[in-house]
Amino acid sequence: MEIELIQSHPFTDQRPGTSGLRKKVKVFQQAGYLENFVQSIFDTQPELIGGVLALGGDGRYYNRQAIQIILRMAAANGVAKVLVGQGGILSTPAASQVIRRYQTQGGIILSASHNPGGPDEDFGIKFNTANGGPAAEKVTEAIFNRTREISSYKTVQADDVDIDQLGSYPLGNMTVEVIDSISLYVELMRELFNFEAIHQLFNSGLFRLRFDAMHAVTGPYATEILETILGAAPGTVINGKPLEDFGGGHPDPNLSHAHELLELTQGFDPVDFGAASDGDGDRNMILGRNFFVTPSDSLAVLAANAHLIPGYRNGITGIARSMPTSQAADKVAEELGIECYETPTGWKFFGNLLDAGKISICGEESFGTGSDHVREKDGLWAVLFWLNLLAVRQQPVARIVHDHWRRFGRNYYTRHDYEGIDAAIAMELMNDLRYRLADLPGVEMAGRTVDYADDFAYTDPVDGSVSENQGIRIGFTDGSRIVYRLSGTGTVGATLRVYLEAFEPDPDKQDRNTAEVMAPLVQLAGDLAQIEQRTGRSEADVVT
Ligand code: G1P
Ligand code: ZN
Repeated sequence: MEIELIQSHPFTDQRPGTSGLRKKVKVFQQAGYLENFVQSIFDTQPELIGGVLALGGDGRYYNRQAIQIILRMAAANGVAKVLVGQGGILSTPAASQVIRRYQTQGGIILSASHNPGGPDEDFGIKFNTANGGPAAEKVTEAIFNRTREISSYKTVQADDVDIDQLGSYPLGNMTVEVIDSISLYVELMRELFNFEAIHQLFNSGLFRLRFDAMHAVTGPYATEILETILGAAPGTVINGKPLEDFGGGHPDPNLSHAHELLELTQGFDPVDFGAASDGDGDRNMILGRNFFVTPSDSLAVLAANAHLIPGYRNGITGIARSMPTSQAADKVAEELGIECYETPTGWKFFGNLLDAGKISICGEESFGTGSDHVREKDGLWAVLFWLNLLAVRQQPVARIVHDHWRRFGRNYYTRHDYEGIDAAIAMELMNDLRYRLADLPGVEMAGRTVDYADDFAYTDPVDGSVSENQGIRIGFTDGSRIVYRLSGTGTVGATLRVYLEAFEPDPDKQDRNTAEVMAPLVQLAGDLAQIEQRTGRSEADVVT
């Protein structure tokens, strides 16, 4: 049946280029809101008609209701089959794997990633294409444009499908297949990593891990792999039960939000290794004993050691990092004699490079790391990679990273976020900076000389598409950098992100306190953009 959409298009304030729709649950619960977006997917992706769709989410509040709505709409739109994760659960990397493994025509992922969940918090939906990755910009644009045109959506009248039991169920002319995505994911991890070596590491009794699933989607995946299969002690996975509101927490693995885990790696009798993942399982945080590995360093370390891991033993073809990610990975690529691509923020830019075989490993400073095994970043994958590395090298986390710095130099790194600032003020701040870029090269500031200053633009080496205005970069001759960018994922006002990096080649100076080393750059970044005068904020809300 055809149901009329009464509200006008709901996407006026959506920033172009974002890979999906992320809003408060209450907004999604408005009549026709979710339906408008879903119908627009079916209208613009004709291969789904008569095709197969993967469907699942991070289990947050409204996940189950949204799945039933989408199933009925899929049936009405002529989709032949939908593969749903049991209980409606698919971590984002697992969804990517399901799409690739079953060669579906695409997938719908229900998640607002690391944003809090619950009736008053966030919900989200995005479409991934047949390669398993987030839809390219032209696809999302087509979907967004379609949401503005349509006046009705298609659905069928039917009871809810039981998505908790594995098996096949008819829904109209369509089949709903409830699948066990955990076993599927385990299989893939087993192909990539040396499970035997990791098992021995746990068996030695000398090594303790805590994995914080933050009451989000990775809990069941992590418990199965780490405790059941690899033999880590029961209790290794903490906050392992997925909850619709993530236990009231903020499922974002960083130093501000993963406090409990951080404490377990510090103080008296710390564990050897701490790791965490976010709401939908694609992010990761890596901690050693009293030691935080920045995501930028993690990417570089994984790339430099990839040959020690079965899945990458033949070497990696190339590396990619998002523009604000530190240049640590560039140094590794240089030494390995492979290319390091600098892409705009957002995982979708890695997709073409991965599909074309130009890169094997990629990552972002925002706690995202991944490889060509799927087309999303993958939190648990990164943790298993580190575990495999620790098992092979038989060294603590801190030792591995220190050795890395000694060899490649250290890129001190920090990110300062100013959240919920007035959108107009944020735009003006960025625009005013843009006007001054041309005058900056050669100028000396706080003891550093500007090497280049630009508004980052990216030409995709595979399809030639150009993405402009991707953030302001100011590079200094000593290798340090200041980057300014407005977030594309925040849901309230604007978020200004300031990324800071300082390069230190001298091993004797690589053990300093990051905040101290970065203080002059933080000051300079604030002065240059007049952050305090314009926003009234004397300090960032989140420092990672
Ligand atoms: C943030 C991160 C970015 C990541 C995205 C989705 O986007 O900075 O690296 O790809 O979340 O997880 P932002 O809010 O900065 O636009
Ligand atoms: Zn996420």
